[in-house]
Formats: sequence, structure tokens, C-alpha cells
Amino acid sequence: MRAWQRVAGHVGSGQLNYSAFETLRDGRRVEIRALRPDDRADLIAAVARSSAQSLYRRFFAVKRDFAEPEIEFFLNVDFVDHVALVTVVDESGRPVIAGGARYIVIEPGKAEVAFAVVDRYQGQGLGAALMHHLAAIAREAGLKELIAEVLPDNVPMLKVFEKSGLARSMKREPQVVHVALRVC
Ligand SMILES: CC(C)(COP(=O)(O)OP(=O)(O)OC[C@H]1O[C@@H](n2cnc3c(N)ncnc32)[C@H](O)[C@@H]1OP(=O)(O)O)[C@@H](O)C(=O)NCCC(=O)NCCS
Repeated sequence: MRAWQRVAGHVGSGQLNYSAFETLRDGRRVEIRALRPDDRADLIAAVARSSAQSLYRRFFAVKRDFAEPEIEFFLNVDFVDHVALVTVVDESGRPVIAGGARYIVIEPGKAEVAFAVVDRYQGQGLGAALMHHLAAIAREAGLKELIAEVLPDNVPMLKVFEKSGLARSMKREPQVVHVALRVC
């Protein structure tokens, strides 16, 4: 059974307005939407709430402090060569970023993806849902392949790729697994 269900969704005028709603394993309703420049504080808060292991798996280093140019890079996405989605959950009536995923086009037709879900929200299907939406955007944009570099012990990330239903190739090296997914 799928970890989440699409209950509603639409693509607005351009992917800058992308928004869809999903239901997670625990019944929680979440919005998956385009990252906005005004998400800055919430994005930094999400990093602060992430464990050392999660940060290491995302950045290949336990990185909590980011220089201003890095923050600008993460926030100012053009939704063409750099696409970023966030998942927003309700915490006591307040919308909070629980995770996100992005791709960056590295050559024509090919983009690199990266994911991060705050620990307390992992295992609820957010990773799978982000994968689904990111792949749909990539397909609509005419991309052919999404690639990722994953630490060999990162079972949740490898499972998300495996369960995406996309044709997949993997090259295992001692320190990293190179994953390539066909999106067309
Ligand atoms: C990888 C990651 C994005 C997956 O997100 P997620 O929301 O947990 O993913 P899902 O809930 O869709 O789960 C995917 C699978 O991993 C499993 N899983 C999730 N968290 C797990 C954990 N801590 N231990 C073991 N399995 C786990 C889930 O059970 C699911 O498998 P199943 O469908 O067979 O049950 C998330 O774990 C994360 O942010 N990790 C740290 C950052 C990272 O690794 N980034 C990847 C860099 S490319």
C-alpha cells in the first residue's frame, strides 16, 4: 500500500505556484508546495531540528551553519534549472516545514536530486511523496534522468528511489552509491 495518497492537487500558473496535498501514514494532511524566498526562517529551523545523522546523510557532513551565499542559493530557486519543494505540516495551528527535496539541472536533460525530512517526520511517506512530485515536475520539464549520490548505509533514501517505480540503475562504490532514475 502506498504511504500516502493524493487527495487534491494542482499545478498553478508555472511551477512557482506548485501545490498539492497528501495524506501521510498517520493520517496527517500535508501540503507539498514550491519553496518560497520567505521560507528562510522555517528552512533554517528545519535544519536546526534535524539530527546529526540526517544532516550527514544530506550534506555528507554535519552542517548546521550556512554562509549567506549558500542560504541565498538554497532559497532563490528559478523552477527551471533549480526546483525545490517543501512539505508543510500543521503544528498546533502553525504551518511548519517538515522536509524538502530539490533538483538542480547539471546538464541538458539531467538533474541531481537531494532530499531532507526532519527526523520526527521520517517514515511517514514524505520522502516518497516528494519523489513523486519532483519526478512529475522533471517529466513535465522534459528532463530524462534524475541522479543522486547516496551513502551506502542510507537505506531510507535508497528505498524511496526503489519504490518510486522509475527505471533505475545503481553503481555501488565503497563510499557512495550513484543512482540514476529515468523520468521519461
Ligand atoms: C531519506 C529521507 C529523505 C526519506 O524520507 P522519509 O520521509 O523518511 O521517507 P518515507 O517515509 O517515504 O520512507 C521511505 C522508506 O524508508 C523507510 N524509513 C524511513 N525512515 C527510516 C528509518 N529511520 N530507519 C529505517 N527505515 C526508514 C520507510 O519505512 C520507507 O520504507 P517502507 O516504505 O518499506 O516502509 C529521510 O530519511 C531523510 O531526510 N534522511 C536524511 C537526509 C538524507 O538522507 N538525504 C538524502 C540525500 S540524497
